[in-house]
Amino acid sequence: MKIFIAGIDGYLGWALAQYLTARGHEVAGNDVFLRRAWVAEVGSDSALPVYSIEERAAAFEAHFGKSLNFRQGDLLDYDFICNYLADFKPDAIVHLAEMPSAPYSMIDQKHAVLTQQNNVIGSLNLLWAMKEVCPDAHLVKLGTMGEYGTPNIDIPEGFFEVEFRGRKDRLPFPRQAGSFYHWSKVHDSNNTMFACRIWGLRATDIMQGVVFGTRIDEMGDDPRLRTRLDFDQCFGTAINRFCCQAVIGHPLTVFGGGKQRRGFLPLRDSMQCLTLTCENPPQRGEYRVFNQFEETYTIHELADLVKEVAEEAGLNPVVHCYDNPRQELAEHYYNPDRQHLIDLGYQPSHDVRAEVRIMLADLMPHKDRILAKQAILVPDIRWDGSRRRSEVIDAEPIKS
Ligand SMILES: NC(=O)c1ccc[n+]([C@@H]2O[C@H](COP(=O)([O-])OP(=O)(O)OC[C@H]3O[C@@H](n4cnc5c(N)ncnc54)[C@H](O)[C@@H]3O)[C@@H](O)[C@H]2O)c1
Repeated sequence: MKIFIAGIDGYLGWALAQYLTARGHEVAGNDVFLRRAWVAEVGSDSALPVYSIEERAAAFEAHFGKSLNFRQGDLLDYDFICNYLADFKPDAIVHLAEMPSAPYSMIDQKHAVLTQQNNVIGSLNLLWAMKEVCPDAHLVKLGTMGEYGTPNIDIPEGFFEVEFRGRKDRLPFPRQAGSFYHWSKVHDSNNTMFACRIWGLRATDIMQGVVFGTRIDEMGDDPRLRTRLDFDQCFGTAINRFCCQAVIGHPLTVFGGGKQRRGFLPLRDSMQCLTLTCENPPQRGEYRVFNQFEETYTIHELADLVKEVAEEAGLNPVVHCYDNPRQELAEHYYNPDRQHLIDLGYQPSHDVRAEVRIMLADLMPHKDRILAKQAILVPDIRWDGSRRRSEVIDAEPIKS
């Protein structure tokens, strides 16, 4: 298949380009290196070195024997995206090109507007470009499990049967997002569903859990093929951050009591799911929703798991709870479905420990890169728009 990746230089995009190419798909993609700039803006850097796109392309060609079909360009540039899609003629488009951080979107008015402008307008441009240039292509749109929030009932995959005053219908499940970033994804979902209905586009909206991992097997040993791995409060996701903290002996920073439950999946599972989705498109006019995660865990369970694996590796980490800079329920019911991808053949890896072991081994040689940025490990972005560094509210004793 010909698969276009919007946001090919990012954490998922760079891995996906390799995973799909290794399976014989023809890949092309764009990026405008915003993730690199945003991480620098918040005073951080990737724990694993990120090479220039020229170096990445050279390694890609050496490893896969194909040149990387890449163009630098912004999804906000409508003509750029129309021209690229018209030239490439994709069967599927995986849309990853968005600002992906809740805290970043909550910094202030400027960052909230940047987030929604980049994400909502970029996605709308892509929908219009598809309608004009490649209406038969399948849009695989990355959303997030965070669109649903944490309702006190089970979470279906996008839609549910509801009975109200004696009448029944199948309706979109209510979204209760928890940041301006997550709301941008909800707006995208609505626009995508509408475009499928009125123009007959086909789309799969992926409600993805939190991804963790430093590599997929397809990357081999060339460091230029590795994907980025962030650990700051904006762009570092829970397990990735905990592993970086464990490597330098910083307390693992659990927010609040750590009883918040979320869906997680390893990078290799995310690649498997996105590939299965591309290879199994919906009918023209169909808008479907997949919940994509391996398993749900509480944040404290994950910190304890990283701690145990780190101890096996000879490290001596501790877990500390910090007052939560986010506004979210401290404890809640959480039971989302994830059957659609299983029906397509998704085989969850179920081995978080093995993945964490690989991550710690990959991160150890880059300890100095994390140490150089350790000042940014404790969060200070508050949901009310203020800045205040979180304080420890429950500290595990440090072993001597
Ligand atoms: N990583 C996760 O844990 C996770 C979980 C759930 C959902 N998602 C979603 O998956 C997608 C990809 O996530 P990621 O972790 O790879 O993020 P990322 O920031 O590493 O990748 C996104 C890429 O898109 C590019 N980009 C952003 N806006 C662009 C624009 N207007 N034009 C061109 N390029 C642009 C960025 O420069 C970046 O390289 C995001 O939409 C994110 O919300 C990620």
